Amino acid sequence: MFEGMRAFVKPESGVDSIELVEMAVPQIGDDELLVRVKAVGVGIHDSYFLPGDVKYPFPIGIEAAGVVERVGSGVRGHRPGDHIAFVSSMQPKGGTWAEYAAVKANSLIVPIPAGLDFVEAAAVPVAGNTVLRAVKALDAVPAGGSLFIAGGSGAIGTLAIQVARARGWRVGASASEHNHDHMRSLGAEAVVDYHDPDWPEQIRQWMPGGVDAAMAVQPGTAIDSLSVVRDGGKLIAVSGDVVAPERDVHVEAVPHGTDVRGELTRLMTEIAKNEKRVEIERVYPFEEAQAALAKVQTRHARGKLVLRLE
Ligand SMILES: NC(=O)c1ccc[n+]([C@@H]2O[C@H](COP(=O)([O-])OP(=O)(O)OC[C@H]3O[C@@H](n4cnc5c(N)ncnc54)[C@H](OP(=O)(O)O)[C@@H]3O)[C@@H](O)[C@H]2O)c1
Repeated sequence: MFEGMRAFVKPESGVDSIELVEMAVPQIGDDELLVRVKAVGVGIHDSYFLPGDVKYPFPIGIEAAGVVERVGSGVRGHRPGDHIAFVSSMQPKGGTWAEYAAVKANSLIVPIPAGLDFVEAAAVPVAGNTVLRAVKALDAVPAGGSLFIAGGSGAIGTLAIQVARARGWRVGASASEHNHDHMRSLGAEAVVDYHDPDWPEQIRQWMPGGVDAAMAVQPGTAIDSLSVVRDGGKLIAVSGDVVAPERDVHVEAVPHGTDVRGELTRLMTEIAKNEKRVEIERVYPFEEAQAALAKVQTRHARGKLVLRLE
């Protein structure tokens, strides 16, 4: 039954493009699940996240939603037939841009709640995990405090606005003007256009003295984001930008060790109940994965892009 599958792979080392190939379904070990992939969340990282011990051809991708088909003999808590969404980063057996994926049982796996379909579920794990870890690092910001998000209209920003509002924070966010009404509809109070060199001043006018915290989501935004944080506030460099702290502002990357499984499960349930929204700009048939990758690489997608498998 599970002998062959289609997958988008990097064919060999040093090749930038991906190809659709037929290949063997991965064999699972005692500590792994075999998942029939139903939908795949697309991210800019998919083109370059490869495990150190990669073997070619290598199915790319780290995020998906699907149905558990088999479980390894040592796996507890998962059963064939379970509907799950997951992040399985850097798996030597290959990633999620495939009809089947081998997933370590200790990966970030969350059950898909009733009311959420596979496409919506596949759009949440990577961005949700990142947002929830970043927000946890901002625990000291009280309700009524303020957050600026540099990159409020993308996969991370659209969720971050809503999670921040639920914490009672006032939110400012940047994107091009055509995304401003959209960010307002998610709860942003102050919206600025990053093309306008005056935007940091506009944020300082909104929040005199500076915001309590900022999330620099898009690469290259950390320096300007730092300039709108109040003395002694906090900057989370989601993109990994490196900036020298100033004025006692604490600068850090998204903490990797934080376990937000519980919060991620809650977020999915809130989305299923329409209490929060997962923004999906476009759903692509699996066969059009290259177009989805090209679109996400423009860094101008609104919310998430998702591949659907039949
Ligand atoms: N640390 C982690 O754990 C982690 C995890 C995942 C991702 N990341 C990082 O997060 C970033 C990707 O975030 P994402 O997935 O949310 O991106 P994304 O979905 O590709 O973001 C696209 C959106 O960003 C807006 N945008 C583009 N350039 C901008 C700029 N200079 N300032 C403000 N907005 C801008 C675009 O709006 P317009 O069309 O209006 O321009 C578009 O709507 C990457 O840097 C990645 O490395 C980090």
